[in-house]
Amino acid sequence: TFIVTDACVKCKLTDCVIVCPVDCFYEGENFLAINPDECIDCGVCVPECPIDAIKPDTEDTPDGKWLAINTEYSAKWPRITKKKPHAPDWELYKDQTGKFEAYFS
Ligand code: SF4
Ligand code: F3S
Repeated sequence: TFIVTDACVKCKLTDCVIVCPVDCFYEGENFLAINPDECIDCGVCVPECPIDAIKPDTEDTPDGKWLAINTEYSAKWPRITKKKPHAPDWELYKDQTGKFEAYFS
């Protein structure tokens, strides 16, 4: 499966959602999650993200942190299929790391 990772937090550009053939992106306030059970591993969303936030789960942390986060939150959040305008301040956050811990609520 593919997973959304830390780079997406507070950027949430949503370019990824329009290309997914199975509509498996889910939207929280600051972040999107992929439902790993619905993702068909097509990979087409990966180049759509301007900040490379989407990775194969083979690039997850050794403890599977991002797979767990995507699994948990995709089950709680509503599906998103339409792109939204970029937040005016997204570039402030694009090079930060540890955003999930710093900003996620
Ligand atoms: Fe959707 Fe394909 Fe991306 Fe999975 S890899 S989230 S199926 S676009
Ligand atoms: Fe996030 Fe990139 Fe999609 S920032 S919402 S994974 S286009």
